[in-house]
Amino acid sequence: MTDSVKLNAAGKDLDLKVLSGSVGPDVIDIRKLYAQTGMFTYDPGFTSTASCDSAITYIDGDEGVLLHRGYPIGQLAEKSTFMEVCHLLLNGELPTKDELDKFSYTISRHTMLHEQLATFYRGFRRDAHPMAIMCGVVGALSAFYQDSADITDPQQRMIASHRLIAKMPTIAAMAYKYSIGQPFMSPKNNLSYTGNFLQMTFGVPAEEYVVNPVVERAMDRIFILHADHEQNASTSTVRLAGSSGANPFACIAAGIACLWGPAHGGANEAALNMLREIGTVDRIPEYIARAKDKNDPFRLMGFGHRVYKNYDPRATVMQQTVREVLGELGVTDPVFDVAIALEEMALSDPYFIEKKLFPNVDFYSGVILSAIGFPTTMFTALFALARTVGWVAQWNEMISDPEQKIGRPRQLYTGPTQRDFVPLADRT
Ligand code: SDX
Repeated sequence: MTDSVKLNAAGKDLDLKVLSGSVGPDVIDIRKLYAQTGMFTYDPGFTSTASCDSAITYIDGDEGVLLHRGYPIGQLAEKSTFMEVCHLLLNGELPTKDELDKFSYTISRHTMLHEQLATFYRGFRRDAHPMAIMCGVVGALSAFYQDSADITDPQQRMIASHRLIAKMPTIAAMAYKYSIGQPFMSPKNNLSYTGNFLQMTFGVPAEEYVVNPVVERAMDRIFILHADHEQNASTSTVRLAGSSGANPFACIAAGIACLWGPAHGGANEAALNMLREIGTVDRIPEYIARAKDKNDPFRLMGFGHRVYKNYDPRATVMQQTVREVLGELGVTDPVFDVAIALEEMALSDPYFIEKKLFPNVDFYSGVILSAIGFPTTMFTALFALARTVGWVAQWNEMISDPEQKIGRPRQLYTGPTQRDFVPLADRT
């Protein structure tokens, strides 16, 4: 391991320090580069840039490894619960029985929304996209929970974190109920976090809702698979918003807005719509040809990843979960057959092999969510629900980092150099 690298720039020989983490690539410390050389680095999309140091999630894209505080995602998905993973991401360790009971109790006591927030929904059209509602309602939380908006107070930061984790299922379920014209369902504290979400979403006042344990387990596993993912676009958005001192509710609303994009969290909705548009296995070659055509903007949604250049370990678990859920629910979905065939055909095509394009977390999730009964418009809202714990964990880590400062990237300017104003009468 080298402790520095040499750089000759602007006529100077520089020794740049190399920093090492506990695992993964070393980083070259360029914090003084501009002061020493008057030059910036250039890295649109941050393909080679570490924006921070973090102890929460580690990804090895070549090996298909995803660790949350050191624990492999496959083990967490198989053996843990979303509440345990929330505690792990927030506090750094899997909880003891007592810690889990206390944490679950705390979260369950924050699931209700201020009654006036329910009126926000009535301002939206019934066909408003749930992500538009989530952006609006989550951003508005800062108007109701000012007693946990002081980011300098660790106690208030933790209360805000618990409130956000607890209220996202209520907010998402209310968005769904509003879209179908059914009454909002109150949270029920005697149910699990995920069971409560299912009853708020699919329950009705007219009868007692019985949680299906198969669906509850599958949903809980889907939440685990989406909980956190290093410095992805929406997490980086939350960190950047938080670096200015913005309140946690505004920061999470910013993360929701970023996640909505089809290149990011919006891909699960786009992937299922794509699979439905393909419709049958015999039409797959036409779409693979389009995905390879440089003149066609079409991409295989749910394929490819900035970091994973091997299999996304979450996609593996997701595919297994689809088989289990469809089998146990006795549901057959031709879209799943199309998804399996599409994966096989794409992964044997030189274009996808050469560009290392594999299914990502969004490729199969829509098949399960659809089988459970969610409309595709709710898919990204469910991603946001699950990712909230990762966002707040990363936000807390950033705020409590003594080295953190406001994020303020620079640029390579390519516009006009200075010129004098031309009066209107003299413009031709
Ligand atoms: C998520 O960052 C995270 O961790 C995100 C996430 C998380 O948990 O937070 O994992 C969640 O966002 C998963 C990704 C969901 N998005 C999609 O499924 C949308 C489809 N995939 C892409 O648009 C794309 O693969 C990205 C955005 C995911 C990654 O884009 P990159 O890393 O910027 O790669 P690129 O666009 O530069 O593509 C490299 C090449 C290009 O060809 P060339 O210009 O080199 O000839 O691969 C091609 C692309 O055209 N390519 C695809 C493709 N994805 C990339 N070609 C066809 N279909 C695709 N899906």
